[in-house]
Amino acid sequence: MIDKLIYMETFGCQMNVNDSERIITMLGDLGYAATNEPSAADMILLNTCSVRGGAEEKVYKRLQNLKIYKRDGKSQIIGVGGCVAQQEGEELLKKFPFLDLVFGTHNLHLLPDMVRGAEQGERRSETAFIDNEQRLDLFPSIKGKSRLSRFVTVMQGCDNFCSYCIVPYVRGREISRRSSDILTEVSQLADEGVREIVLLGQNVNSYGLKVDSEPTFAELIRQVAEVQGIERIRFTTSHPKDMSDDLIACFSDVTKLCGQIHLPAQSGSDAVLQRMKRVYNRESYLEKVRKLKAVRPGIVFTGDIIVGFPGETDEDFEKTLSLIEEVRYIDLFTFVYSPRPGTKAAEFPEEMTRSQKMARLDRLMALQKQINLEICNEYIGGLQSVMVEGEGKLPGQISGKADNGRIVNFSGKKNLIGSFVDVRIAKAYPNSLLGELPK
Ligand code: SAH
Ligand code: SF4
Ligand code: F3S
Repeated sequence: MIDKLIYMETFGCQMNVNDSERIITMLGDLGYAATNEPSAADMILLNTCSVRGGAEEKVYKRLQNLKIYKRDGKSQIIGVGGCVAQQEGEELLKKFPFLDLVFGTHNLHLLPDMVRGAEQGERRSETAFIDNEQRLDLFPSIKGKSRLSRFVTVMQGCDNFCSYCIVPYVRGREISRRSSDILTEVSQLADEGVREIVLLGQNVNSYGLKVDSEPTFAELIRQVAEVQGIERIRFTTSHPKDMSDDLIACFSDVTKLCGQIHLPAQSGSDAVLQRMKRVYNRESYLEKVRKLKAVRPGIVFTGDIIVGFPGETDEDFEKTLSLIEEVRYIDLFTFVYSPRPGTKAAEFPEEMTRSQKMARLDRLMALQKQINLEICNEYIGGLQSVMVEGEGKLPGQISGKADNGRIVNFSGKKNLIGSFVDVRIAKAYPNSLLGELPK
């Protein structure tokens, strides 16, 4: 019986978004329904990110703000999960006396028990890692989400230890899910009406490499493409070093695989890439980009770039700009380097001032804005096949995604929701396209 409300806020990446959906599903069994109103909630949970110092600070600020909802007399539960919880553990209970629950990235399955305890006034922190395959059998499934597009976890964790990155420390070792479980989930989703699958993990293209009996990621994509009812496949996120020729070939021969890829370069300078421990170099990265463009004309790239990494010279930065010009990303996520506790790069001396870093970021964003505009304008007048997912922002509009991942809004009847339609592009914005149904 649903008789309590949970308010949940999610920070960080898609893994966290996915985990939050699992949590909501699990706590539904305990009688909690989701609400968007913290003042109405019986429980407030923050699912947190610590990838940069700023992300972590945001969580602490938010926590302080939410404290006011803790009602006198009635025990409202406040909890923190995700990567900040994993990083800080029990310390959080000490720092924030109004906090009841701290649960790490491998402990979602303990949450129902923890919540029952908290309902009786217990304060508890659980952040032990489970670094073996059993972790994946523990993670609860997501229910009650009828959507055309769904994420399916294929692996968790990361073993790459890029020198700047905290993720391997807060998400634990890389573990691939059994392909049989993945395919069963995909088939079930297809039966529920799901048409698009986004294969999810910190580094999906290293899927299966450590287990002889499992397919490679390229083989897994081919198997998913065999599932009846699935029309589109995407994946996120991938490491350039694991972008194999076979995976590149999928973009040529698996027609269900969409023409879009997130392939973070981080920097265009070999010296910086080496200190970042990224394993590839500028030329091998660009070679993969060229191959992808050759096998799938029109393929759209997105990426991540870090500016101001320790020791990044003007020359290094110019190389990053030229790499961006050569790849021509449609969207780029740009970050100012932030030292993270426990990582290798946190020991590197930093000589750049904040304003120097910001000046570089500005140049990078100006260049990216121009490239985005040029690419998006090229779509005007052409047709895009759109999977219509819902209503648009304006009245009378419906909205969906093109094969390349761009959002397309256009005037149309609601009964088109759930179908694929060809839409002519009339206008381009930085983050979406405006289209019309051909007469
Ligand atoms: N697994 C993903 C990245 C997850 S973190 C991948 O490798 O693609 C998302 C992005 O945050 C990274 O790609 C990187 O650009 C950025 N990032 C990670 N650590 C950072 C740090 N210490 N400072 C600034 N940006 C960082
Ligand atoms: Fe972080 Fe590198 Fe792993 Fe990505 S691949 S999560 S950047 S350590
Ligand atoms: Fe942030 Fe954790 Fe994701 S640190 S980016 S929420 S894996």
